[in-house]
Amino acid sequence: MTQPKIRLTVNGRIHDVAAAADTALLYVLRNDLELNGPKYGCGLGECGACTVLIDGAAARACVIPIGGCAGHDILTLEGLGSRAHPDPVQQAFIHEQAAQCGYCLNGMIMTAKALLMRNINPSESEAREALRHNLCRCGAHVEIMRAVMRAAGEAAEVPD
Ligand code: FES
Repeated sequence: MTQPKIRLTVNGRIHDVAAAADTALLYVLRNDLELNGPKYGCGLGECGACTVLIDGAAARACVIPIGGCAGHDILTLEGLGSRAHPDPVQQAFIHEQAAQCGYCLNGMIMTAKALLMRNINPSESEAREALRHNLCRCGAHVEIMRAVMRAAGEAAEVPD
C-alpha cells in the first residue's frame, strides 16, 4: 500500500514525505531530508540534542510525530545560518569556542536561538533556565553560557 504523503515546511522549503504519521520528526529530517544538524542522543526527549524550532519554539524532534508538523514552520540548524553566513548565535559559539565533542551543540544553539527570539535581552539566570534541560556530557557549560550571553549582548545592541 502506498504511504500517504505528509507535507512539511523545513527551512522554508516544502517537502512531501512518505512516512507514517507517527514517525518521529528527527528520523525524517535526518534520513529522508539529509538534515543532520539535529542529533539523536537519548531518543526520549530528555537531552536536547535533536532540538529544532517549530514556529519559533524549541522542540524535541525525537518525540514529535510528523503528523502534527504539517502546516508548521520547522527550522533546523541548517536553516539558521551557513558556514559563510553564520547566525549571530552560531558566531558567538565560534567566538567562545563553546564546544568539545560538539554533539550537544545543535540543541544548545537552537535552544539559545529560541530564547533570543522571545527575549532579546535575557539575564544569565533566564538563559540558564532556558538551557537547563540541554545536556552536555563534556562539561562545556561555562563556554556555552558565555556564548549565549555574548549572542544576547550582541542581539540587544542591534537597533530596531
Ligand atoms: Fe531528542 Fe535526546 S535525542 S531529546
